Amino acid sequence: MLDMTFEEAWKIVDKIGVWDALVEEGARALWDAAVGLGPGRHFVEIGCHLGRSSTLFMLLAKQHKHSLTFIDPWAGPPFGESDEKVSDVTAASWFWLIRGFHYPFTLHCCRTEQIPEANYPRGIDFIYIDGSHTERCVEIDCRMIEEVTPGGIVAFDNYGTHPPVQAAVDRLLSLGVLKKRALAGIVMVTEKA
Ligand SMILES: C[S@@+](CC[C@H](N)C(=O)[O-])C[C@H]1O[C@@H](n2cnc3c(N)ncnc32)[C@H](O)[C@@H]1O
Repeated sequence: MLDMTFEEAWKIVDKIGVWDALVEEGARALWDAAVGLGPGRHFVEIGCHLGRSSTLFMLLAKQHKHSLTFIDPWAGPPFGESDEKVSDVTAASWFWLIRGFHYPFTLHCCRTEQIPEANYPRGIDFIYIDGSHTERCVEIDCRMIEEVTPGGIVAFDNYGTHPPVQAAVDRLLSLGVLKKRALAGIVMVTEKA
C-alpha cells in the first residue's frame, strides 16, 4: 500500500461507478494536489454517489493516514434537491465498497445542511465538492470552505458543465478567497488563500 502511484490507484478507481463521474485527467489533478499536502490531513468529500472519487480519497487516506469525512444523502437525483431517495441499494453499495478498505471514515448520510452543528466538519485540509449542483446547494456546500485551513485544497467537479458551480467558483476566485491551481477537464483545483 505504501508509495502507491497514481497509475496504480487509477487502475482501481477506474473500475468503480461510471466512467464520466471522474475521468483520469481530473483524478490525477486531485491526486497530485492531495499528495502535495503531506500526511495526516483531513479530507472531506461532498457527493459520494457510486464511490468513484471516494475510492480515490480512500486510497490516498490509507496511504497517508488522513482522516476522511464523506457526505451524501443518497436522496434526490444526483444533481437535484428533493428528499426522495435515489436508491438504498446505491447507498449500501457505496458503504460496502468503502468499508472494504478497512480504514476508518466518518459518513454523514444526509444533505450538507442537515449535518448537526456539533458534528460539522472542521479543520479541513482538502475538500472535494461534487454534491447537488443547484445554485442553492452549491452555496450551502461552499460555506464549508470557511473550515478549510489556509493553503488547503478546495476542488470542484463540473466546472464548466454546471453554471451554478462555475459562478460560485469564479466568485470565490475573484474575491481572493480561493487561488486557482489547475483546471483539469471539468475538475477545478484551487487553494484556500
Ligand atoms: C454527481 S454525484 C457524485 C459522484 C461521486 N463523486 C462519484 O464519484 O461517484 C452527486 C451526489 O450528490 C449527492 N447530493 C445531492 N444533494 C446533496 C446535498 N444537498 N448535500 C450533499 N450531497 C448531495 C447525491 O446524492 C449524489 O450522490
